Amino acid sequence: MAYPVNMDVKPEVSAHFDEASNTVSYIVKDPNSDHCAIIDSVMDIDYAAGRITYDHADALIAEITRRGLTLDWIIETHVHADHLSAAPYIQERLGGKVGVGEKIMEVQETFGKIFNEGTAFQRDGSQFDALFQDGDTYQIGTMEAFAIYTPGHTPACMVHVIGDATFTGDTLFMPDGGSARADFPGGDAGQLYDSIQKVLALPDDMRLFICHDYGPNGRDIKWETTVGEEKVHNIHVGSGKTREEFIKFRTERDAQLAMPKLIIPSLQVNMRAGVMPTDDDGNPMLKVPVNGL
Ligand SMILES: [Fe+2]
Repeated sequence: MAYPVNMDVKPEVSAHFDEASNTVSYIVKDPNSDHCAIIDSVMDIDYAAGRITYDHADALIAEITRRGLTLDWIIETHVHADHLSAAPYIQERLGGKVGVGEKIMEVQETFGKIFNEGTAFQRDGSQFDALFQDGDTYQIGTMEAFAIYTPGHTPACMVHVIGDATFTGDTLFMPDGGSARADFPGGDAGQLYDSIQKVLALPDDMRLFICHDYGPNGRDIKWETTVGEEKVHNIHVGSGKTREEFIKFRTERDAQLAMPKLIIPSLQVNMRAGVMPTDDDGNPMLKVPVNGL
């Protein structure tokens, strides 16, 4: 697939780091208009208390309001397993369309079964305003953005490219962070390797903005790198590591990883585009499938 890369467009990117989930949310602004997009928002949850709040999303909303911007898109790079999306909360206040990869339907099918959702839970992605396929384009003000299909971490992962700025989701971390796990239902280490190659095929000076950072080896949190840097220095895929090497490493590593603390609430909310599920009486309610994951 030949993607419509345009390095001459240089969006203004502002990052908001969420310490509770190590997630980076982004506001991406068109340099030639007042239009912007949000990539991967976060809703705060105290899971032990069953309480949700919106400090992180409110900070995004405050910045967009203060700068007088129009929000065109609220993008989810994938169905996150480690934090809850605040997309509907933001949409209610600022408008914009919520977009995700069309393979969300596979994710909904898988987790619809695991959480034993009834027929009221649609598995057709209709909770979202737009479902992207590989190479699909969309507008943010005067900027043309596009999505690259990058399965492996999850079946619905997409990397979003906006001018000279690429939002990797969990397909690639900082060079010293490597890559994300590929062992969730529907994940695949070989696919992840192939997807990463698509990102590394972008121009070397393409800016990369990653979705999570954990400050490996005690370094400060970082979220921006380039394709050129990743090609040389990424500890999992850089400097010509082979597909076989990657699959072996990733599979062995994933077998040792604990489940993310928030995977159970995250999946139930994120597969609904950020909407909290409800019980039969319409009260917000989450489930725990015992030995189901
Ligand atoms: Fe993820």
